[in-house]
Amino acid sequence: MRIKFLGHASFLLEIGDHRVIIDPFISGNPQSPISVDDLPKVDYILVTHGHGDHMGDTVEIAKKYDSIVITNFEISVYLEGKGVKTHSMHIGGKYEFPFGTVKMFPALHGSGIVTNHSVIYGGNPCGFLIRTDEGTVYHAGDTGLSMEMKLLEMEKVDVAILPIGGNYVMDVEDAVIAVDFIKPKMVIPMHYNTWDIIRADENKFKNLVEGKGIKCSILKPGEYVEIGR
Ligand code: NI
Ligand code: MN
Repeated sequence: MRIKFLGHASFLLEIGDHRVIIDPFISGNPQSPISVDDLPKVDYILVTHGHGDHMGDTVEIAKKYDSIVITNFEISVYLEGKGVKTHSMHIGGKYEFPFGTVKMFPALHGSGIVTNHSVIYGGNPCGFLIRTDEGTVYHAGDTGLSMEMKLLEMEKVDVAILPIGGNYVMDVEDAVIAVDFIKPKMVIPMHYNTWDIIRADENKFKNLVEGKGIKCSILKPGEYVEIGR
């Protein structure tokens, strides 16, 4: 599996012949290494919550490629109204897709969809556990540190993608505690340095994580790691 960072909280997973994008915030994303037109065909789009820096270009991409959006029930209803195909799930639910099994984990955050200066209810925010033949990835979405993350230890996570930018989400110190809870083989930090309000020292995070004997891969936008076969 190839895990490619597209800046902020957006990741493109290539799993065998399948392409899956998580939180496709591309046009408006100051860190994005590509434009929406450059994005290759994606089969599935996973959306962790309704905020603009995560839902991003979901509607445009899904319509262009006839992709299926996997997200919570409330966002799913919203997107269906925009003419997008969805597969709705909810917290604690698990479903087998052609690329692997997705399980929705809780995130401590909001999920409102902003439109015309008002907010539409967007259900509960989530993180995704994606279990494939080529490894198991957890993308936390936007979240504060939570005790629920302890449940991830028994999922034997290969790669945990965690926010470290603070203010809206965990900061470096809390994300290090999350690593203690999850005990993954590898960690990739996200959701930092996109804007001034989420400045974080990714090298400090890496040193703290690697001090525990866990690999930490800091990816620049456009860079990737490969795991599994
Ligand atoms: Ni958010
Ligand atoms: Mn966010």
